This record gives sequence, C-alpha cells and structure tokens, in this order.
Amino acid sequence: MQIYLDYSANTPPRSEVIKTMQDVLAQQWGNPSSLHQWGQRAAIVLERARMQVARLINAPAESIIFTSGGTEADNLAVMGVAQAYKKPQHIIISSVEHSAIAQPVAWLEQWGWQVTRLPVDSLGMVNPGDLKAALQANTVLVSVIYGQSEVGTLQPIDELGQIAREQGVLFHTDAVQVAGRLSIDVQQLPVDLLSISSHKIYGPMGSGALYIRPDVELVPLISGGGQESRLRSGTQAVPLIAGFGMAAELAAVQMLKETPRLIRLRDRMFDQLADTPN
Ligand SMILES: Cc1ncc(COP(=O)(O)O)c(C=O)c1O
Repeated sequence: MQIYLDYSANTPPRSEVIKTMQDVLAQQWGNPSSLHQWGQRAAIVLERARMQVARLINAPAESIIFTSGGTEADNLAVMGVAQAYKKPQHIIISSVEHSAIAQPVAWLEQWGWQVTRLPVDSLGMVNPGDLKAALQANTVLVSVIYGQSEVGTLQPIDELGQIAREQGVLFHTDAVQVAGRLSIDVQQLPVDLLSISSHKIYGPMGSGALYIRPDVELVPLISGGGQESRLRSGTQAVPLIAGFGMAAELAAVQMLKETPRLIRLRDRMFDQLADTPN
C-alpha cells in the first residue's frame, strides 16, 4: 500500500472542487471582463470565489487579488512595494523564507537594495527583538513566512507585524502553508499583505491570491488589460479560481475539526518514530 504524506507540497483537489471546475469549464466559460451575458455569468463566478477566499481570512472581498499561485503573490508583494521607489531602500526578511520571497529579494539586492536576513534559533523562530533592532529609517518592507514549508515552524506574526506597524513599515507574510489550516483574521493580525495558494488547501494548482490591506498601494508586475483592480492584468483563470474559492469555503468549515485531527496524527507518528532506531 502507498501512503501519500506530502500534503505541504500538494493536496489532492476535493471532489466538490473538481465538480465546480467542471461546471465552470462547461457552462461559465465567458470572459469575465465582457459586458454580455456570457461574460457577466463568469464575472459572478469570479466574484463569488473572491468572497469565499476573503472569508477564509476575514478580509473584505475587494482586498483579494487573484494570482497564478503563491509564488506570484509573494513576488507581487515584494516587487509591488519595491517598484514604487526610484532609489534602492532597505528590506527585511527572515533567513527561512520560501524561494518565492528569497529570490526576488536577492534580485533587489543586486540592484543596490540593502537586505537584512533575520536569523532563526534552533526551532526556526525569528526573535522579535532582532526585527526591532534591524528596522532603519529607509526600511520599506518586512516579510516573514508564517508557517515554514519544510519544518513547520510558526512565526510570531502578531508580534512581528506589530513591531513593523509601530514604525510605519509595511509587513507581508507568506501564509501559503497556514491559510486553511489555522484560522487567520486579517482584521486582528497586523499584516498589510498576505499570500495564499490554492493547491495547498485541496484546490487546483495555478491559482493563488494576495491579500492587500485597502490603503496599501502596489505597482503591478503584469500590466495590460487592467484586470484585478489593475494589479494583475490578464484574463482571470476563472475555472481555477472557482475551484480555489470552493476549496477556501470548505477549508474554512473543515479546518476546525481537521487541524486538531492532523495534530493528533502528527504527534502519534512522532511518538512512534521516536522509538525507532536511526
Ligand atoms: C511557503 C510557501 N510559499 C510559496 C509557495 C509557492 O506557492 P505556489 O506553488 O502556489 O506558487 C509554496 C509552495 O510550496 C510554499 O510552501
């Protein structure tokens, strides 16, 4: 028997997600920017998905920008902030970011930006005191991963976000491994930007979102037809987004039971492995 244990890399789409996507492909295939009925039917699907994803993190629907996944959401957060400046500034990340943050930040560094990479302790935790000490007058963004994709460490995002906010610095968190597993409330959490990915929550690959706090202004990475409030041009992948929306709605309900069940399973596995030589 084979057992799939790589759910942090990808989750199998739920049957409701597959059904939603099939229905959209077959029936709501219009371009959501078109003014005629076919377009408007697709636009309704798109906006329903936006509400479903927004509800997962208690955000207003209009603060959700659909992207091609977590990678693009992360890139949009970093480059969207950076491109607003004519001259290089200072950016702070942790030393345990996913490459979707680490790489664009490394590019910025090549273009003259100053970068501070906060160290982590033996559990992979960032020390809030280190963030306080690293902030400078020209710091324009702090980005710290919420749940680390390889070892699972959860960062004190509340505390870190608050420190950045007190200094008037934008705070982004990559919540790709957390959204849909632990409850997130962006009305309470001091974050300005937050990345989510569909395929980690039993939705399809190729869809994700960036939450952007309403008063935060970003420069788009992809320009063109002005879709997604001009922040991400290109005809939206409506079938994928609809699947993502359904996955988000299911996750919001199931998370309450599912997360404690997974924690029990994980603890049991760790206990048993601890008794296994080597
Ligand atoms: C923490 C984290 N950020 C970003 C990504 C990239 O997301 P996507 O695969 O949707 O581009 C991943 C995927 O593994 C991830 O684990």
